[in-house]
Amino acid sequence: MKDIDQAEMSPDEWDELHFPRADHNGFDDVVEAAISRRGFLNGVVAFGSGAAVMGTSMLKGTTAVAGQSDRFAFEQLPIQTDGTVHVPDGYEWEVLVRWGDPLFSDAPAFDAATGVPTEGSDRVFGENTDGMELFKVGNHELLVVNSEYVNTKTNLPENEGGKPASAGDVLRLQNFQGVSVMEVTEGENGWEVVVDSPYNRRIHHNTPMVIDGPAAGHDLLKTDADPTGTASLGTFNNCGSGRTPWGTYLTCEENFNGYFGATEEASLDDVTAAGFKRYGVKTDVDPGRYNYHGFDARFDISKNPNEPHRAGYIVEIDPANPDSTPVKHTALGRFKHENAAYALAPDGRVAVYMGDDERGEFMYKWLSRDKYVPGGDTSTLLSEGQLFVARFDDDMSGEWVALTPAATGMSEAEIALFSRIAASAVGATTMDRPEWIAVNPTAVEAYCCLTNNKNRGIKPNAGGDDTAANGPNPREANNYGQIVRWRPHGDNHASNTFDWDLYVMAGNPTNQQGAYKGSSNINEGNMFNAPDGMQFDTTGIMWIQTDGNDDNEGEFEGMGNNQMLAGDPVTGEIRRFLTGPNGSEVTGLTWSSDKRTMFVGIQHPGKPFPDGEGSLPRSSIVAVKRTDGAMVG
Ligand code: FEO
Ligand code: CA
Ligand code: CA
Ligand code: CA
Repeated sequence: MKDIDQAEMSPDEWDELHFPRADHNGFDDVVEAAISRRGFLNGVVAFGSGAAVMGTSMLKGTTAVAGQSDRFAFEQLPIQTDGTVHVPDGYEWEVLVRWGDPLFSDAPAFDAATGVPTEGSDRVFGENTDGMELFKVGNHELLVVNSEYVNTKTNLPENEGGKPASAGDVLRLQNFQGVSVMEVTEGENGWEVVVDSPYNRRIHHNTPMVIDGPAAGHDLLKTDADPTGTASLGTFNNCGSGRTPWGTYLTCEENFNGYFGATEEASLDDVTAAGFKRYGVKTDVDPGRYNYHGFDARFDISKNPNEPHRAGYIVEIDPANPDSTPVKHTALGRFKHENAAYALAPDGRVAVYMGDDERGEFMYKWLSRDKYVPGGDTSTLLSEGQLFVARFDDDMSGEWVALTPAATGMSEAEIALFSRIAASAVGATTMDRPEWIAVNPTAVEAYCCLTNNKNRGIKPNAGGDDTAANGPNPREANNYGQIVRWRPHGDNHASNTFDWDLYVMAGNPTNQQGAYKGSSNINEGNMFNAPDGMQFDTTGIMWIQTDGNDDNEGEFEGMGNNQMLAGDPVTGEIRRFLTGPNGSEVTGLTWSSDKRTMFVGIQHPGKPFPDGEGSLPRSSIVAVKRTDGAMVG
């Protein structure tokens, strides 16, 4: 673990520091659970020192042997440890846009040492690029991109420790986050943003939003500024992304809890207090990472205790209409949303798979009541329907359990507002931090990156649910992560039941033992840890991005910087394609509409990427192409 101070921590690290979960040594439970599963896991069940160790098994029709076929158009890139981006021979990359680059010609110039001033900070590309999707509107290519969080030291370089010291500082941080909509085009100088395009738009922590679905108008969503409980400001900690078949963008509110605090002791009702505990909302006066509450009363729980109930949702944005109001869809549940991956059922109903990225939290599925008809009314598809949570059984089957009032003892509004508590009530399976989910366009199956979980088998989740090792989360103190795959029964994403397996368990075959070596499709050449971002291209290749330990030492030796790899869903083969600068996470992936360019996000580079020595590090989106101009997805 690197030395990090608060300003440099990821939201997950910050959350863990402030909300450590109760200690409970569940190692005996782990061993017992592992032994009881001896029957269904192919291969080894054995125990190393202090760890459950087991093999993995694959769904029928799948072999996990690397090298049986080669659908990849590139040779594997070796690991890298330097401060820039690398791609294989035959490919090239360029920077499309960096934090602080103008979206409008009246934006302030970026200063290499001081960044962007507060005035005009809502006219530039935001920081810490994450999920993104490209939409073709007429002849315009619109890239819609999340800016997940801010590195306060990078954004307020003149402040001691990067601490916000004024309302203006807070506003600057608020403006650098949220979502950017920007037109992009490829000209003689490569890809660039179309400055002043009428489609360009910044959506940030103060942008008006509409709240719909079962929790809209609930008393717990009402504030002095919004007595209706249906009109909020801002979208927060926008992590992964999604899109709908009708051309809208879905942004996913993840670690929203970190933006709140209290200037004095808050008196909370029991329901609110229990919700804050489960979601990690902090009520002490510590100025914390952002100190919004010190200067903006909306984030002060002692004054506005309901404000946190208005975050943690899937938010729909129409990129084709710059004047549209984003909609927070409470029907899709409130949790630390990673991304939103849709799949159409054969009858046209819309399924949306979603992960809750926290140790020991759950995976969810939304299923619309109504059918999607191209060109038809889509207004109910993310508000009328049913939310489910996943239960994975040890016989490699599973069930989407409906979160209904009858099953949970909660009202529809309470289920939407406190989805974690509803899911615990029905016995959902605790997971190793569900990050991105991706749906295979060439087979009826979906995948979820379970990034890692050092608490697996060690501590319960924040709701007290046991986290002993289980089928898709088979390793205690899991520092590497794995990818679970499921195939809905009846080849129908509307089905309530499925079969599952593990597509890959990351690991280190050179210096670890048993299951910590990784599954058989991990080898000395393609090692990685902490799978996080994931997208399929149109040919059915799965692209995996990592957000892990890049020290390249100890159990992570041989893995190098964070990276993007290609996975073949059929053979299990995985091959490294791109590496990011040291200190960065590779996250966010989409393609130009002609599929000749892939856009890849480089978040929180540790070095002064991409401008070089003397500049602040700038999270960036890079455009990657083949040198022969062929398609890349
Ligand atoms: Fe923002 Fe779970 O990654
Ligand atoms: Ca992520
Ligand atoms: Ca992550
Ligand atoms: Ca991250």
